[in-house]
This record gives sequence, C-alpha cells and structure tokens, in this order.
Amino acid sequence: MAIQISPSILAADFAHLADEAAAVATSADWLHVDVMDNHFVPNLTLGLPIVEALRKAAALPLDCHLMIEDPDRWAPAYAEAGAGSVTIHAEAAKAPVRTLRSIRAAGARAGLALNPATPVEPYADLLPEFDMLLLMTVEPGFGGQRFLDIVLPKIRRARELIRGRAGAVWLQVDGGVSADTIERCAEAGADVFVAGSAVYGAEDRAGAVEALRAQAER
Ligand code: DX5
Ligand code: ZN
Repeated sequence: MAIQISPSILAADFAHLADEAAAVATSADWLHVDVMDNHFVPNLTLGLPIVEALRKAAALPLDCHLMIEDPDRWAPAYAEAGAGSVTIHAEAAKAPVRTLRSIRAAGARAGLALNPATPVEPYADLLPEFDMLLLMTVEPGFGGQRFLDIVLPKIRRARELIRGRAGAVWLQVDGGVSADTIERCAEAGADVFVAGSAVYGAEDRAGAVEALRAQAER
C-alpha cells in the first residue's frame, strides 16, 4: 500500500499560495484544497477562481475537497478546472452516483467523503463508482481540530470493504492528522493522509511532509 501525503493549503498563508504550494512540491503527492461555502459547514474559504489559479501555479495535482451544498451542481466544474481529484460529501450529494460519474467523465479521480457520524456500510455497493473514500477524522469546517479516535474502527471496516472489491480505492483521512495520530490511521488501513496544521504549522514544510510519510510507512 503506497502512502500518499496531501498537505492542506487551508493552513497555509493565503497571501502566498503559490509559494506555499511550491514548498511541498517535491515532498508531497497532492495539494489538498478545502472548498467551503458557509452552508454545508460554518466556514467560508475559496472556490473555483482560486482552484483555477492554483492549477496554473502549483506543480502538484489538486485534491479538491468540496464541503459545499449542492456538490451535484459544482463538482464537475472543479474537475473541468483541472483538479486531479474531486471529493464530494455523501451528506450533501443528492445524486452521488451521477455526480461521481461526471467527475470521472471530466478526467478527475472521484472521491466520496463521510463525516465522523456517517456510517460507511451504506456506501459499500457504491465502491466501484469512486476512486477514493475520504473518512473525516474531525467534523468538517476548520483546520487545527483534535483528531477523533472514534473514527478508527470505521477506518478498519472501510479497509475491509475495499479489500473485498476489485479495483483500487484509496482510503483518505482528513482532520487532526499529525505526528501523534498518523501511525494509528495507517495501522487502521488509511493510505492517503491530509495534513494542514501539521505541515503548514511547521517552519520546514517539506521536512514535516517527509516526517509524516516516514511515520505512516513504519
Ligand atoms: C477540515 C478540512 C481539513 C483541514 C485539516 O474540515 O477538511 O482538510 O484543512 O486541517 P488539520 O490537518 O489542521 O486538521
Ligand atoms: Zn479537507
């Protein structure tokens, strides 16, 4: 299972996004972009124009995490804007199968995200429709929150569901992933790790990515 690290630019200096993307360009695998609309979550971050700008400025593929209402309407536009991956929330999507298919049709990897309280089992039959399952390890909306240990059993169950299927579905964790928590996530079966404050809160961003990767691979 190859480990991938996706630093979240939510924790970066928004006045210097291109520099912040460049700081992890050779150490990370993806650049995680948190799109929030102040409706699905109580916070407002950034949208399509910044994703389009980052797409041109950043060397890494963009891992767009849509924490918005009506992802069915907006997700294809993020894929068309050149995101490498577009993840929608199961709690917000009204037609997740159609939307996941339209993300793939636009050339991006399709992701499905579940909040801490959303069970994974009802989505087992949908596994062939997406490329990545994102299990939130905090309630979505803000960086810098405390990792929720209660999600660990769900990570294990999701890994088992994925193992039983043909085709590779990546298992991403997002929220409170740090030097203290990444090993538990990896041990439970996660293989893609989002880290905001653990990377951009460090002076040496690339060093922080390398350290997280080394711990996840242990
Ligand atoms: C939270 C976002 C996360 C956030 C993670 O809703 O989805 O991607 O940026 O930040 P940390 O790693 O600081 O918890
Ligand atoms: Zn995120």
